[in-house]
Amino acid sequence: MPTPAPDDVARAAQLLRSGGVVAFPTETVYGLGADALNPQAVGQIFAIKRRPPNHPLIVHLPDVSYLKDWARDIPRAAYVLAEKFWPGPLTLILQRAARVPDQVTGGQDSVGLRVPGHPLALALLKEFGGAIAAPSANRFGHVSPTRAEHVREELGGEVDMILDGGPCQVGLESTIVSLLEARPLILRPGAVSRGMLAEALGDEVEVATAEKVTLRAPGMLASHYAPRTPLHKVPAAALEQRAAALLAQGQRVGVLARQAGKQKSGLYYYLLPDDPKAYAHELYDTLHKADARGLDTLLIEDPPQDEVWWAVRDRIMRAAT
Ligand code: TXA
Ligand code: MG
Repeated sequence: MPTPAPDDVARAAQLLRSGGVVAFPTETVYGLGADALNPQAVGQIFAIKRRPPNHPLIVHLPDVSYLKDWARDIPRAAYVLAEKFWPGPLTLILQRAARVPDQVTGGQDSVGLRVPGHPLALALLKEFGGAIAAPSANRFGHVSPTRAEHVREELGGEVDMILDGGPCQVGLESTIVSLLEARPLILRPGAVSRGMLAEALGDEVEVATAEKVTLRAPGMLASHYAPRTPLHKVPAAALEQRAAALLAQGQRVGVLARQAGKQKSGLYYYLLPDDPKAYAHELYDTLHKADARGLDTLLIEDPPQDEVWWAVRDRIMRAAT
């Protein structure tokens, strides 16, 4: 990991204090951060991302002691999960405290909170001494950045600073769990799995259905995490045939799969790992690379159905056209 000078963290915190927007690494993806108590600075995030104003942001906290300042009527389960998984890739949806600006929550009465696990994110939060509102540092609907270069390429001219913390370890956005219902409800799968949550809570955890998600988080179902090149999800056994048909039409085609097939002119293979964690770590970087080549079509192998592939499958489903 590139080690930014301590000055960089101090400068980033200073920029946040003066209402600036700073991109910073987390263990999941890079975030586009602003002072969560400064509505104008938060407004800048929406402008840079071109994100609809009703789409709420996640508030990043320095540690669990800040929870009571940002949420109210906090259930015991929140503390159990925070104790077990923070700092880490888990976002909790709770009733918002009165101080949380409407701009952050998209006007909803709830707020998403997490303590990120990346040392540089924690250093920044500590130095800043408050909460940082941050969505992923990409344009609305596009693939999330897992390297500082991804942010530089897409938003470089518009942010006040990019803190480079190297490639993100997890590579997919945090698990989002709503604690607003009788039972915890997963709104977005991530590295903290359903099983891990259930074990920590000693209780079943529900999974949001499409309808529930639409109500709660507008945009979560819209085309999301998508590259600019049309991407199609194809069963492994049909990949070669689909690619051949597109090549026959004169297209240049990228194939993202866990195994390479026969080399042909106009066909580009991007190999992804067999292990789901390693796959998650590489997926967005591979999508960025394949997208940058300016091909006509990308085909991605349909990942396995097992629970351990759930978060990966979810992102591929949303990214595919
Ligand atoms: O890993 C992550 O969570 C990254 C890093 C930067 O922390 N952040 C991230 O933010 O993925 P973003 O904005 O790209 O996605 C945040 C998701 C959105 O789908 C949003 O709808 C949901 O969190 N969300 C935020 N507040 C919510 C709330 N009060 N109720 C329901 N969903 C909420
Ligand atoms: Mg995002």
